[in-house]
Amino acid sequence: MSRVIALANQKGGTGKTTTAVNLGIGLAKQGNKVLLVDADAQGNLTDSLGYQEPDNLPISLATVLTKIMMEEPYEPDEGILHHAEGVDLMPGNIELSAIEVSLVNTMSRETILRTYINTVKDKYDYVLIDCMPSLGMMTINALAAADSVIIPVQAHYLPAKGMTQLLQTIARVRRQINPRLTIDGVLLTMVDNRTNFAKDISFVLRRDYGDKVRVFQTEIPLSIRAAETSAQGKSIYAFDPHGIAAKAYQAFTKEVLEIGEKQRKRQHQTHLSR
Ligand SMILES: Nc1ncnc2c1ncn2[C@@H]1O[C@H](COP(=O)(O)OP(=O)(O)O)[C@@H](O)[C@H]1O
Ligand SMILES: [Mg+2]
Repeated sequence: MSRVIALANQKGGTGKTTTAVNLGIGLAKQGNKVLLVDADAQGNLTDSLGYQEPDNLPISLATVLTKIMMEEPYEPDEGILHHAEGVDLMPGNIELSAIEVSLVNTMSRETILRTYINTVKDKYDYVLIDCMPSLGMMTINALAAADSVIIPVQAHYLPAKGMTQLLQTIARVRRQINPRLTIDGVLLTMVDNRTNFAKDISFVLRRDYGDKVRVFQTEIPLSIRAAETSAQGKSIYAFDPHGIAAKAYQAFTKEVLEIGEKQRKRQHQTHLSR
């Protein structure tokens, strides 16, 4: 049983990509087979994993999505790259912005990415989709393909308005395209514990949204080392194994694994009671 998780927030710079890398590699370190999917035309995830010129890659997510739209055949492992720290990557690049446009006139335009993920996910325990900073077609596709969503929120800003919009979009996708979509939770990132402001944000989030979504126990601290990691092509565990960000991402990975376990048990029980 594989679990497909989308990392989404229409705001840029909230830690989606950093979380995709370090949750993905964290899960792989715990013995899981993991595929990371770069669904952002900026290709930051691809870049962060060491492919510094994502736009020059011969095959990327856009290539296979185009084939699916054109009903052309493709190999199940087409374009998938292997990272030294044990995760696979379906790279993404600028070509995704053209896809975003052509999707509008495509049949089943919300489910093209789901069609792709469904053909590869059986080989993995976890598939993580790193979303664009928008609520456009690619993000809708990611939500349609996912079992659950993790929402990284940067602790510097009050996320109130954007958060409501994102929750509404998730609810709409659930009603119209993907009824089994759940929200795993909100992850606070870049938390500066020296300020009261971070504590206030955490408090306000739990107060205003706590009844609708889980706010993860783990908070990712602000860390220069974390910011430097993306240029290294590796995870925080490889770059700064004893630092605060590595510890936090390890604890967060554990929380995500626990949610996965609970969901598996629940599915198993419903299965038995049928
Ligand atoms: N815990 C952290 N502490 C400091 N800087 C961080 C941290 N996490 C991410 N960053 C940096 O913040 C920027 C935005 O993070 P990123 O993961 O790319 O966000 P998004 O994918 O949501 O746009 C990047 O430059 C990244 O290196
Ligand atoms: Mg990103």
